[in-house]
Amino acid sequence: MAILVTGGMGYIGSHTCLELLELGYEVVCIDNLSNSSPESIRRVEELTGKSVRAYIGDVRDEALLRQIFAENTIDCVIHFAGLKAVGESVSIPWKYYDNNLNSTLVLTKVMADVGVKRIIFSSSATVYAGDNQMPLREDSRTGGCTNPYGWTKYMTEQILSGMAFADRDWSVVLLRYFNPIGAHHSGRIGEDPQGIPNNLMPFITQVAVGRRERLNIFGNDYDTPDGTCIRDYIHVVDLAKGHVAAISYVMQNQGCEVFNLGTGQGTSVLEMVNTFMEATGVNVPYVFAGRRAGDLPVCYAGTDKSAQVLGWKAEKTLFDMCRDSWAWQSKNPMGYLEK
Ligand code: NAD
Ligand code: UD1
Repeated sequence: MAILVTGGMGYIGSHTCLELLELGYEVVCIDNLSNSSPESIRRVEELTGKSVRAYIGDVRDEALLRQIFAENTIDCVIHFAGLKAVGESVSIPWKYYDNNLNSTLVLTKVMADVGVKRIIFSSSATVYAGDNQMPLREDSRTGGCTNPYGWTKYMTEQILSGMAFADRDWSVVLLRYFNPIGAHHSGRIGEDPQGIPNNLMPFITQVAVGRRERLNIFGNDYDTPDGTCIRDYIHVVDLAKGHVAAISYVMQNQGCEVFNLGTGQGTSVLEMVNTFMEATGVNVPYVFAGRRAGDLPVCYAGTDKSAQVLGWKAEKTLFDMCRDSWAWQSKNPMGYLEK
């Protein structure tokens, strides 16, 4: 079976390509390298001893997509390609709406034309409204997003579910990721953010490796046990395995289904920093800074539906996530620039 992976050279895409290859799937990938390096897929090939058919190009390029579907017999698409920097989406919203919405529109138009109507989409916990009770369940309220990035995820969910409602031949799975961190245990592939990281774990690992002086912890006056925010961190390899489970589902069903991919466990920022220091033996200096606009105090997933319907559950611990993030960062202090 052949899977087209858009954004396959990125962080989650490269780990998913690796899992797919190890399970014997054929992998075709398209990436425009706007936030990645072809070195990631070269290393996936090296780790698995298998090859990926890689196209460098934009998912909004309809002619290229037609060529890819003509040259390969694709059974299903996993659509990772997208821009994800929340702050940049606030300053340059058009770029986010153009990239994230038009990529999905062009992709699904071509898929419909060639009769491949099975798609798994990378959504986010960010689509949930801010006033829900925890844990967030798939039927918790969505909308009221606080930034254009979040709206692109919300709107893409609307587009894909509307298509599946209108044409029962479509099979759509919307995966709402919580906070992916960690790396393949080899330390050969991992997250390689450009510029100053926005997210917690890449910031911690860059402090640990000496690229940044200290971590700013955004707020220690939240209504949580230690005053810092709580999130549901999930190992990227568990997340990649969630996509494999979703492929089985999408191949056997019609319509549109949404699943959370999280662990169901909340971890505070301070717990994360302390676990990282314990798992790696490396000190991470930090200071308490003011709250970051838009942060929720607590966010974690309800995992019953993905366990019951997909038969998938995250298995790795916070300790594993910290150890593996550090394996990647310590072996590649400058990311994929270090060949
Ligand atoms: P990433 O930036 O590492 O990967 C995305 C990949 O898509 C990159 O390789 C980039 O070059 C490529 N890309 C972007 N626009 C493209 C286009 N128009 N055509 C072709 N390629 C394009 O990000 P990631 O962390 O691997 O995230 C993958 C997906 O998961 C994204 O859609 C992201 O929004 C979503 N997501 C990520 C997180 C997270 O915390 N990492 C959380 C929730 C959802
Ligand atoms: C952020 C985005 C969210 C996006 C997700 C994955 C915001 C408001 N939310 O979520 O839309 O889907 O990333 O890309 O940007 N923290 C620090 N110091 C840091 C970095 C983070 O204390 O230098 C804290 C944050 O305040 C938060 C926690 O660490 O409490 C996790 O932050 P982060 O990794 O950015 O994830 P989210 O805030 O959950």
